[in-house]
Amino acid sequence: MVKDIYSDFAKDYDQFGSISDIDQKEQAFINKVFQKYGVKQVLDCACGTGKHLYIVHKMGFDIVGSDYSSSMLDVCQKNLMKEGINIPLKQVDYRYLENTWNQKYDAVLCMTQAIAHMHTKDDLIKAMKSMYKRLNMNGILVMTQGTTHLTLQNQFRFSLVINNQDFSRLYVRDIEDGFQMVNILDIFHSTTKNEMKKHSMKLKILLDDDFKCLLKEAGFKKVELYGDYQMNSYQKDNSWKLIVVAQK
Ligand SMILES: C[S@@+](CC[C@H](N)C(=O)[O-])C[C@H]1O[C@@H](n2cnc3c(N)ncnc32)[C@H](O)[C@@H]1O
Repeated sequence: MVKDIYSDFAKDYDQFGSISDIDQKEQAFINKVFQKYGVKQVLDCACGTGKHLYIVHKMGFDIVGSDYSSSMLDVCQKNLMKEGINIPLKQVDYRYLENTWNQKYDAVLCMTQAIAHMHTKDDLIKAMKSMYKRLNMNGILVMTQGTTHLTLQNQFRFSLVINNQDFSRLYVRDIEDGFQMVNILDIFHSTTKNEMKKHSMKLKILLDDDFKCLLKEAGFKKVELYGDYQMNSYQKDNSWKLIVVAQK
């Protein structure tokens, strides 16, 4: 059994923004890629609190979601209910998707660094092969992350990712031996709540060449790497995002 490292973080996760707070650039990117590859049916295999389920559903595609964390799924279920949306949700480890999802999809999503929770090459390949198997021929796997060659530079070790009147979220990252320990400091500073919480996540550092090698080994025939939602190619010295589109 894998430990649910989101059990504590899940209820505050959406301080990043509610699922209906759509990033228009991300939405436009997903739409463009889905049109390019003729996508109709989608599986989000690390759906978290449901951000991409909401975006993709609103764009008119069929989507189902799963995640390993029951606490993230609980928040997701509540979020979708609040929006009046009914999307099938399952608790599934994305290394074993075939045990639960027997249909195939035109696109599988594994967004916002969800793949970096795999710490060994064996697990990474297992997960990517499992995603590959859920795809129709010529289907695509889409993965995104905010970790790039640029963001790993020491000057970005501390980043204040949220800072509003009532709440701040600070990331402090310790990088060692191919991993980053992301320490998340949540500070509630409103008139009614003064509290500090700390969460830590150990994430595998995966960059452009890692994705190319791993995805090829998992069977994907084409791997495209973008550095932003405007579809500019990934560049080591100035990309703030690493976005992967891999075709079966
Ligand atoms: C940073 S969150 C991103 C959530 C969502 N994709 C988003 O973009 O908001 C990473 C998610 O990956 C999920 N995850 C980690 N390991 C997993 C696994 N083995 N199988 C399925 N989901 C997993 C976590 O439970 C968490 O919800």
